[in-house]
Amino acid sequence: MSVKGVEGSGAKAPSSGAPAEASGAPVPDSTTGPLVDVRDVSVVFRKKRTLAAARQVRAVNDVTFHIAEGETFGLVGESGSGKSTTGRALLKLVPTESGSIKVAGHDVTNLRGGSLRRARRSMQMVFQDPYSSLDPSSTVAASIAEPLVVHERLSAKEARSRVNDLIEMVGLRASYAERYPYEFSGGQRQRLAIARAIALNPRFIVCDEAVSALDVSTQNQVINLLERLRAEFRLTYLFIAHDLAIVRHISHRVGVMYLGRIVETGPAERVYTAPAHPYTQALLSAIPDPRRRSGRIVLEGDLPDPARPPVGCPFQTRCGFVMDICKQRVPEHTAVEGGGEVACHLQTTGPTLAGSPLNDLVPTRATSTP
Ligand SMILES: Nc1ncnc2c1ncn2[C@@H]1O[C@H](COP(=O)(O)OP(=O)(O)OP(=O)(O)O)[C@@H](O)[C@H]1O
Ligand code: SF4
Ligand SMILES: [Mg+2]
Repeated sequence: MSVKGVEGSGAKAPSSGAPAEASGAPVPDSTTGPLVDVRDVSVVFRKKRTLAAARQVRAVNDVTFHIAEGETFGLVGESGSGKSTTGRALLKLVPTESGSIKVAGHDVTNLRGGSLRRARRSMQMVFQDPYSSLDPSSTVAASIAEPLVVHERLSAKEARSRVNDLIEMVGLRASYAERYPYEFSGGQRQRLAIARAIALNPRFIVCDEAVSALDVSTQNQVINLLERLRAEFRLTYLFIAHDLAIVRHISHRVGVMYLGRIVETGPAERVYTAPAHPYTQALLSAIPDPRRRSGRIVLEGDLPDPARPPVGCPFQTRCGFVMDICKQRVPEHTAVEGGGEVACHLQTTGPTLAGSPLNDLVPTRATSTP
């Protein structure tokens, strides 16, 4: 790995302007398939209650998607929709109930013991809180060196040299290595967490709200860093975030989650300009955009209790287009014009969109305000 973009070193620093756009969506290699292949995956949490029956939450419900090598797949959705649980399942940090997960050639669902530890080297996670990976009571050199010493059995001297390279790779000075995490700004700490995540040359990184706690200009700097590392080392990202604008910039393709299910996927540009699912449309309408002619769609009510999801379409309790069939059957995934898939009965029943985006279809139930 070469060194680029050292903060305050005279080398070219990552741009602090607008976030870099993800360029040219890579396609899965037809001989080896996608780097990340997730099929029909469900994750169920069970909580025992003393006075009532056990409570069961299907946090991830029959989720299917793939990510090509070098691609960034953005995952958006309201709080509690199952984004983090999906990311954690991919790294086998939570057990799956059913389905299959393949990452970088490893059948993650069946890995145990030593083979799981070895596979984890190629899969890393960057969290919203950098303290999840940086020990506050250790120097950053010690935190970043830890995986190198444990997994690669480097000597102290070799590990220190790699740590210096890694710190410079994320745009900071190697001389910062002896400092403690509290001596850094939030953006610098997140850069150091990224340095730790790339220490073992992973192929796949789950970024779970990795920039959500940062101010806009620092967000852009960290996004640009992630984008530079992706391009340079052909990294593959699952990028989870609340902020739809950021997900659009960094992602080649996007998945929209609601109540544990992926309700729409597609190339970022298509999903953002021509959403095909009423939930995606509502999420996008909340982003301020002076060019938009239609009003904001206000989603009434909260996400239903995931322990008691509605029968049929999960979005029926808040959807302006709800029909009888929506209360009876879970919609199947249908291909969308312009790429991707959507799970909505509108595509096959009623007005029969037959794969077209929603565009000017008017809701039958009032949910919008000017
Ligand atoms: N360890 C756990 N035990 C029990 N329930 C859990 C656990 N982790 C998550 N859940 C439940 O699973 C559902 C999905 O949670 P998850 O954290 O994946 O959502 P999210 O989309 O990442 O939300 P946020 O945007 O707030 O981070 C929620 O109902 C949550 O309460
Ligand atoms: S299936 Fe029905 S309730 Fe669900 S999003 Fe489509 S129209 Fe709305
Ligand atoms: Mg989360």
